[in-house]
This record gives sequence, C-alpha cells and structure tokens, in this order.
Amino acid sequence: MRRFGPLGIIALLIVLLALLLGGGYGAHQLTINNHFCAACHAYEKTSWDQSEHRQVDCIACHTKGFAYDKIQGTRKVWLTVTGQVNPHNDPLPRYPEETSENCVDCHITDAIAEEQPFFIARHNRYMEHAPTCMACHDSGHERQLQRMKRP
Ligand code: HEC
Ligand code: HEC
Ligand code: HEC
Ligand code: HEC
Repeated sequence: MRRFGPLGIIALLIVLLALLLGGGYGAHQLTINNHFCAACHAYEKTSWDQSEHRQVDCIACHTKGFAYDKIQGTRKVWLTVTGQVNPHNDPLPRYPEETSENCVDCHITDAIAEEQPFFIARHNRYMEHAPTCMACHDSGHERQLQRMKRP
C-alpha cells in the first residue's frame, strides 16, 4: 500500500479542518451567509449592494461546489488570520469561467429556453464569441464602486 507523502498529509489535514469547520449544519449556514463574506470582502459587499444582483446571495455566483467551497473557505480563513493575504487590499485570484457557469445555472435554463427561445438562441451565438458572460454584462458588482478598491 502506498503511504501518504507530506502533501497527502497536508491535504488530509485541510479536509479534516474543513469538515470540522463546515461539517455542522449551523456552521454551514453561518459560512454561506452574506455577512460572513462581507467580514473579509467589504468592497465587494458595497458594490454588490448597488448591483442588479443585490437579491442574489454571494455564494450563488461564487460557489465552485460544496466540498471545494469548504476547503477553499478554510484556506482563506487561514490566509487571513495568519496575515498572508489581506482580502480587503491585496489582489485576489479570479475564476471567471466558474463564475460564468453559475450565471448559466440561473439564466440559461430549460424553462427559460421554452419561454424565450430567441433569447437563448442569441445567447448561444454570443457565447461562441465571448469567453464568459462578463465580457458583455456587469457582474454582481457595480463597476465604478468595485474599481475604487484598487486605484
Ligand atoms: C476570513 C476571511 C474571508 C471570508 C470570511 C471570506 N473570504 Fe473570500 N477570500 C479571502 C481570501 C484571503 C481570499 C484570497 C484567497 C487566495 O489568495 O487564494 C479570498 C478570495 C475570494 C474570492 C476570489 C477568489 C475565489 O476564490 O473565487 C472570492 C470570489 C471570494 N473570496 C468570495 C467569498 C465569499 C462568497 C465568501 C462568503 C461565502 C467569502 N469570500 C468569505 C478571505 C475571506
Ligand atoms: C451575480 C453574480 C455575483 C454576485 C451575487 C456576487 N458576485 Fe462577486 N464577483 C462576480 C464576478 C463576475 C466577479 C469577477 C471575477 C470573477 O468572475 O471571479 C466577482 C468578483 C468577486 C471577488 C474578487 C474581487 C477581486 O478583487 O478580483 C470577490 C472577493 C467577490 N466577488 C466577493 C463577493 C461577495 C462578498 C459577494 C456578496 C456580498 C459577491 N461577490 C456577490 C459575481 C458576483
Ligand atoms: C441565483 C441566480 C442568479 C445568478 C447565479 C445570476 N443571476 Fe443574473 N439575475 C438574477 C435575478 C434574480 C435578476 C433580477 C431579476 C431579473 O431581471 O430577472 C438577475 C438579473 C440579471 C440581468 C439583467 C439585469 C438588468 O440589466 O436588468 C443580467 C444581464 C444578469 N442577471 C446576468 C448575470 C450574470 C452575467 C451572472 C453571473 C456573473 C448572473 N446574472 C448570475 C439571478 C441570478
Ligand atoms: C456578446 C455579448 C453577450 C454575452 C457574451 C452575453 N450576453 Fe446576455 N445579453 C446581451 C445582449 C445584447 C442582451 C440584450 C438583447 C438580447 O436579449 O439578446 C443580453 C441580455 C441578457 C439578459 C436579459 C437582460 C434583461 O434586461 O432582460 C440576461 C439575463 C443575460 N443577457 C444573461 C447572460 C448570461 C447569463 C450570459 C453568459 C452565459 C450572457 N448573458 C452572455 C449580450 C451578451
């Protein structure tokens, strides 16, 4: 049987920590709450408040799947509390493809295809020429306000 290498052990520890933090229903509810996100992402909270999507929860656009969210969330808390990243000021990574897939889940559905076939047909064509929905649409964040984060 293969032994776990050091990376395997680290991965295991992260998963355990994630389960500890995210395992309980209460903890899960807490960590998908918009106010929880705002604790570390004040600028994004403000630009979201002013956006067309203020009634859509942060996590609806930013989820990359339950397990990934929990592991990534634990990692983010670690990076923040150990001072390695200041989420309010430091440049953050972006995952536009995943975000765009979440847009599709709400806006390009079978039900909408039935109701508005031409809307879907046009969008299929748009997507042949654009990498993500955000090429043409403002995201969940009002642009002017979000830009103020990084002068
Ligand atoms: C304890 C502080 C903290 C909390 C709470 C927090 N984040 Fe983050 N967030 C971070 C840090 C640190 C990074 C940078 C991670 C990196 O460098 O990989 C980040 C990165 C991000 C990014 C950009 C990269 C990515 O993973 O997509 C998004 C989007 C994001 N967070 C959304 C959220 C949402 C939504 C919530 C609430 C469910 C949330 N964050 C809660 C600290 C936090
Ligand atoms: C309608 C979808 C949508 C909603 C709702 C939404 N966002 Fe975003 N967010 C985006 C898009 C699109 C981007 C651009 C980058 C990307 O695709 O990852 C982004 C970027 C971010 C980033 C990275 C910022 C940077 O500096 O690059 C963070 C952090 C973030 N959002 C947090 C939040 C938080 C916190 C909330 C809730 C208060 C929220 N988002 C609500 C769509 C959304
Ligand atoms: C959880 C479901 C959900 C997700 C995810 C979501 N949206 Fe929306 N979107 C809505 C709702 C609700 C509205 C407001 C009501 C409406 O006009 O349908 C809206 C409105 C819009 C509008 C019309 C706003 C206007 O100009 O009047 C556009 C365009 C849009 N969304 C694009 C996006 C894009 C791009 C993403 C991904 C970054 C996204 N949406 C993610 C639910 C969602
Ligand atoms: C090449 C540019 C382009 C791309 C890429 C694009 N759209 Fe659009 N979108 C438009 C235009 C133009 C309209 C208005 C005319 C129409 O319906 O085609 C629109 C309309 C919409 C509307 C209706 C807005 C309203 O006011 O009723 C929604 C929702 C929407 N798009 C969501 C999306 C989503 C989700 C994606 C990614 C899958 C996306 N769009 C990608 C150009 C684009």
